[in-house]
Amino acid sequence: MGKKLVIGSSGQIGTELILDLVNNFGVNNVIATDIKTTPPDVIKEVTFFTLDVLDADKLFKLVKEHDVDEVYLLAALLSATAEKKVQPAWNLNMNGLFNVLDLAKEGHVKKVFWPSSIAIFGASSPKVMTPQRTITEPSTVYGISKLAGERWCEYYHNNYGVDVRSIRYPGLISYKSEPGGGTTDYAVDIFHQAINKGIYSSFLAQDVRLPMMYMDDAIRATRELMQTDKNNLTIRSSYNVSGMSFTPNEIGVEIQKHLPNFKLDFNPDFRNKIALTWPQSVDDTLAKNDWNWRPKFDLEATSSIMLKELSKQTVIN
Ligand code: SER
Repeated sequence: MGKKLVIGSSGQIGTELILDLVNNFGVNNVIATDIKTTPPDVIKEVTFFTLDVLDADKLFKLVKEHDVDEVYLLAALLSATAEKKVQPAWNLNMNGLFNVLDLAKEGHVKKVFWPSSIAIFGASSPKVMTPQRTITEPSTVYGISKLAGERWCEYYHNNYGVDVRSIRYPGLISYKSEPGGGTTDYAVDIFHQAINKGIYSSFLAQDVRLPMMYMDDAIRATRELMQTDKNNLTIRSSYNVSGMSFTPNEIGVEIQKHLPNFKLDFNPDFRNKIALTWPQSVDDTLAKNDWNWRPKFDLEATSSIMLKELSKQTVIN
């Protein structure tokens, strides 16, 4: 078995994916890389290299020297940040993907995971139970880069036989690692602020419903997709996957069940406009049929875990 290389291992998904890969395949079979020079404490036992995914030579050398056969490319600028850094976001999100797809095309790695997003949909897409295949006219730099990336993944699969697999992640909720730069990040910030300050000012309006997922589900979805027999996969762009859907108001009410004095107010900013173009829920029938996807965490379970775990962190800090 070759090793699994994670690019962007210090990010929200990367940190937790590393922990999961180590649990399932052993610490000696996982390599963490990130543009940041020091890895987070929770993954400090794992072999780590600083890597800018745009440095194709260094990436190639790492893959060859460490006998890598699977790459998980998580380095990206998310939706809110990308609106402020248009060219760097396009450059990282697209050319990072090309560097990895080309390694696979040339036979240096066997399998690639690359995340897409609900951001590939736009204002003209159906909002409820958004189908796998529908109108996709994204209006953000991030969404455009993810949609283009999906097309390239499918192209590399169809034309060069590259085994690339992808999920359109919804907003991801986690406590081990913090998100950064996303429109859905309010659903993580709200738990931190509820515990630390008892009040949260949401940058999305109270009734803006978005698809979300607890991180354990997202990581399990990733592992299950990567382990599925390739003959079962009918989508080589990116799969819709569903976890839960809620509004800022609904998550506030759920938090108040645990913290009755918690106060929530609303100050929508540019991220609200982005959120209004995204689905409220997605239809993930193909993920269910092709690789048996089933989410486990709803809003109630997610809120209980988040509040419990973040309270412990607050005590420790
Ligand atoms: N969570 C991401 C964002 O808000 C969506 O993929 O940018």
